[in-house]
Amino acid sequence: MNVFNGGSDPGLAWEELERRVETCAACELHACRKKTVFGQGNRTSPLVFIGEGPGAEEDEQGIAFVGRAGKLLSSILQSVGIDRDDVFITNVVKCRPPENRTPLAKEMMACNEFLEAQLALLRPRIVVCLGNTPVKWLLKTSEGISSLRGRWFPWRGILLFPMFHPSYLLRNDSRKKGSPKDLTWQDINALKDRLSTIRQGGE
Ligand code: URA
Ligand code: URA
Repeated sequence: MNVFNGGSDPGLAWEELERRVETCAACELHACRKKTVFGQGNRTSPLVFIGEGPGAEEDEQGIAFVGRAGKLLSSILQSVGIDRDDVFITNVVKCRPPENRTPLAKEMMACNEFLEAQLALLRPRIVVCLGNTPVKWLLKTSEGISSLRGRWFPWRGILLFPMFHPSYLLRNDSRKKGSPKDLTWQDINALKDRLSTIRQGGE
């Protein structure tokens, strides 16, 4: 049994989990962080977004996706009428990797119990993986995001939906047909449609 959802009070389980993240020293990343970034949003949302790890701005503020990539994520969500406060947003690792490098397997391993505990408490219907790092970690695949994005993967009885990472979109600004931004527009619309179906009590 997961220690974090074993009790009858999810509020207490969240508190305990937040405290453990805040004081965690399980991997080297703890040594250079300013703040841990737990993730935030609606804890009863059917929709959860998972990024890679905090960047500089997130490390300063202790909040996930608040830098440039985060602002783009907010506007992508807003474009289909989803308020970022209505979903839960977190990362595979809760401390900033130096120079924003990709987290190492041992770092993701050390942090995994937190992500697992969050997912156990959240019990979402859809997990959106932003970019290669979360999708490779959760699906245990070596396939890249370009072939995975926009596809619905049955995963642990729910759905996993990979999308491009907003940082990648910042580096690839074209809106031409078939460009990463164009594909993301298709993906966010597919996500919105699936979410409405779920909200109406369907699959
Ligand atoms: N990139 C991420 O993957 N996560 C954040 O929280 C910010 C930028
Ligand atoms: N690499 C990533 O990690 N994510 C993307 O979305 C694209 C390339």
